[in-house]
Amino acid sequence: MKAMIIREFGGPEKFELAEMPKPVPGPGQVLMKLKATSVNPVDYKIRMNPSNWAKVPVPAILGYDAAGAVEAIGDRVTHLKPGDEVFYCARIFGRQGTYAEYHVEDAEIVAKKPANLTFEEAASLPLAAMTAYDSIVTFFQTKPGDTVLVHAGAGGVGAFAVQLARASGARVLSTGRKENEALIKSLGADEVIDYRSVKFEDEVNRLTGGRGADAAFDTVGGDTLVRSINCVRPFGKLATIVSVAGSINGMQIRNQTLYFGFMERTETKIQALFILASRGLVKPLIDSVFPLEKIADAHRKIEAGGMKGKIVIRV
Ligand SMILES: NC(=O)c1ccc[n+]([C@@H]2O[C@H](COP(=O)([O-])OP(=O)(O)OC[C@H]3O[C@@H](n4cnc5c(N)ncnc54)[C@H](OP(=O)(O)O)[C@@H]3O)[C@@H](O)[C@H]2O)c1
Repeated sequence: MKAMIIREFGGPEKFELAEMPKPVPGPGQVLMKLKATSVNPVDYKIRMNPSNWAKVPVPAILGYDAAGAVEAIGDRVTHLKPGDEVFYCARIFGRQGTYAEYHVEDAEIVAKKPANLTFEEAASLPLAAMTAYDSIVTFFQTKPGDTVLVHAGAGGVGAFAVQLARASGARVLSTGRKENEALIKSLGADEVIDYRSVKFEDEVNRLTGGRGADAAFDTVGGDTLVRSINCVRPFGKLATIVSVAGSINGMQIRNQTLYFGFMERTETKIQALFILASRGLVKPLIDSVFPLEKIADAHRKIEAGGMKGKIVIRV
């Protein structure tokens, strides 16, 4: 099969088109012919780090999101059959990824593709939307009447977090660039805070009458989490999926709870995403589409930042 591989870790120029063995599904696994994948920051974080912390077999096929059709099933697979159109987020650590014509995955984390989505739209969802789901639904248990601060509402994860918080009935405050204000509001944000022209914590406190948000979701990193402590109410919740700089001691004085998220692929979560996407409660937000052969350009684009949603790769 054709795949975009790297033989060593480094810049986007390390990608090359190669012929790789077509994988074979073992018991409990399915073989997919892929139609689309997407690019996530974790892909370039693995690509550029020679420590190979994700333990990808080298030559490595990167990529986690996937949408395609089932080509073959292994023993004990009961909920899928050849021809089914599916989407999923591949398991990380020690495995080959989805920048390829074919991919094998554990059937339990592969779900039917929502019928209302194209393959490209479906491939834009799994990793980012399930990460947002962990924080907005599982950690925060967001409910009507809550006020949730989502950082980077036009980002891959942030765009889904805004939609999930909105669908949960919350008032949604989101940081983002001024030029993305209309876009982030169209996803469900009540207020968009231009993080480049104001101190977001002051603005959140102003918008909540000094009370603070009930919860804040950090998808940015650096000092974003620590600065969010003072605009989340006492006994409120914070979650981060990125590295945190600075001291979180202030949380103790305010009796706040902090969740560190590392998205785990589960059957329950991909099935929840199937339902949410099928009902239109979570919609794709696609910045751009690249052919698989141009994966290096897609990596350059996501690393440069300033995107509106996800970069999708057509296989
Ligand atoms: N722990 C996990 O399981 C997990 C899972 C998924 C992702 N992540 C991590 O989460 C991070 C975000 O992922 P992603 O897919 O959403 O990335 P992304 O699509 O590249 O989005 C990042 C967003 O951050 C915005 N941004 C940059 N600086 C900002 C600031 N100071 N304040 C507010 N927004 C700012 C950027 O917007 P502008 O440039 O337009 O301003 C961009 O939209 C990445 O580091 C990723 O590796 C972790």
